[in-house]
Amino acid sequence: MKKIIKFNKPYVSLHTKKNLLSVLSNRVFADGIFQKKTEILIQRLIKSHSIKLTQSCTSALEVAMILANIGKGDEVIMPSYTFPSTANCVILRKAKPVFADINKFDLNLDVKSVEKKINKRTKAIIVVHYGGVPCDMKVFMEIAKKYKLLVIEDAAHAFLSKFKKKFIGTIGDLGAFSFHETKNIVGGQCGALSINNKRFIKRANIILDKGTNRFSMGKKNYYSWKDIGSEYRAPELSSALTYSQLMKIKIIQKKRGKLWNNYFNALKEFKNELYYIPFLKDKNKLSSYHTFTVIFKKKQIRDNFIKFMYSKNIQCYFHYFPLHKSTYGKKFCNYKLKYTDDVYNGLVRLPLYPDLSITEQQKIIKKFIFFVKNYPFYKI
Ligand SMILES: Cc1ncc(COP(=O)(O)O)c(C=O)c1O
Repeated sequence: MKKIIKFNKPYVSLHTKKNLLSVLSNRVFADGIFQKKTEILIQRLIKSHSIKLTQSCTSALEVAMILANIGKGDEVIMPSYTFPSTANCVILRKAKPVFADINKFDLNLDVKSVEKKINKRTKAIIVVHYGGVPCDMKVFMEIAKKYKLLVIEDAAHAFLSKFKKKFIGTIGDLGAFSFHETKNIVGGQCGALSINNKRFIKRANIILDKGTNRFSMGKKNYYSWKDIGSEYRAPELSSALTYSQLMKIKIIQKKRGKLWNNYFNALKEFKNELYYIPFLKDKNKLSSYHTFTVIFKKKQIRDNFIKFMYSKNIQCYFHYFPLHKSTYGKKFCNYKLKYTDDVYNGLVRLPLYPDLSITEQQKIIKKFIFFVKNYPFYKI
């Protein structure tokens, strides 16, 4: 049987088993030592005011919307080129997601498109740092200041990315990270909220503790209901998994960076009209190297490429069905987003994870070049 080169393989460090077993022997499965240790570790690592470990980026975004007091009649601007969680958190608060276009060079929100959508109902902007490439946070923070808006960073892909020496997720008012098994740091299903504005910290604890003040019980032996909230905190097993990965963060990031650069150097050398690599070198931006993407000129070429690679036992995937075109999302949007559509039609992601060997990567690059050189006269 031929070996398949998978699109993703979650990284598992040597510490993992020991840490998971220690959770089992401690018999504390919620709000335990790993949850605390991981929060403190991330807080120090990315210089955040406060980190709360959550069950997912989705739940961190939901908490962010409650903290931002988003409610009925409010509008929140965001890209359509994102995962539904970015918009669901807004709809869950009965507010309206307003989709803006992206730019085709880094696949992040286009500032001009955002500014056109601002009106008196606009309360916040959710920026998404696609694939780990940071948005230009200087520009977004200036716009937010000008129109008195909050900025929430959906940094699901961008843990350890930097903009001008500041860690992504710590620049806006609130930042949300994902440690889902598809991300650089794998906590099973896990995430984190970075609280960058001290005024949110106390309320965040209540919301995260299902609306109670349980976290600050101290010597009192009771707690009570204070606000809305839900079960947002990360369970102890996921926290231990996340912690184990963080212990190996340097190795993980080094490997991802090397693989990303290998793709970039090999594919940019090979100039071809069929595709481009959406990336601009910028000394102010450091990527987390979450994904390596290529954009083909047409959907048909992209779809054929995925089929071709599949026939060579290599898994490559498209990304994001744009929210404004989805069955649920189109009721919020009746206009076109040109670059979002172009990117969706052409984009493909190549395998990228620490356990991808150089030999496997060379095979992927070789097949890629074969495809574009011979298109459309190749044989599957
Ligand atoms: C941009 C973006 N935001 C949020 C999420 C949701 O992350 P999680 O699975 O941790 O809830 C994803 C998932 O991939 C994502 O791509």
